[in-house]
Amino acid sequence: MSYLKWDPSYSVNDPFIDSQHKNIIKAINALIDAIDDRKTRLFCTKLHKALESYAERHFFHEEKILLENHFPDLAKHQKEHDSFTKRIDELSAKFDRDEPEIEVQLQMLDFLKEWLYKHILTSDRAYADFIQKKTRK
Ligand SMILES: [Fe+2]
Ligand SMILES: [Fe+2]
Repeated sequence: MSYLKWDPSYSVNDPFIDSQHKNIIKAINALIDAIDDRKTRLFCTKLHKALESYAERHFFHEEKILLENHFPDLAKHQKEHDSFTKRIDELSAKFDRDEPEIEVQLQMLDFLKEWLYKHILTSDRAYADFIQKKTRK
């Protein structure tokens, strides 16, 4: 499977948030490695934990910025963040229930890729454009 690469066009014009988004790409690539190399369950358990704490820190920071900037779609954005946490929890639970490792890993990979395209490159992009327009005025 081929790795994903960060592209400057993914930027939300905030180096701290960009670095957090780059970590999602790193997590996707680490998962691709895990699938290709048939890494252990321990690796995946650690990855799930890392994603949970990532989500907590990243969403808190992002939502604070959206609130400060009076972003009109904050509630919708928060719902998307909540859905990320919920899905990661669901997949972790499947893993803990000893469901076939590869199936859960592939579902996680699909979900993270979808998150990159539908949330980071779409919803996060929307607030970046909003803040940029606002600060230009
Ligand atoms: Fe984000
Ligand atoms: Fe977001």
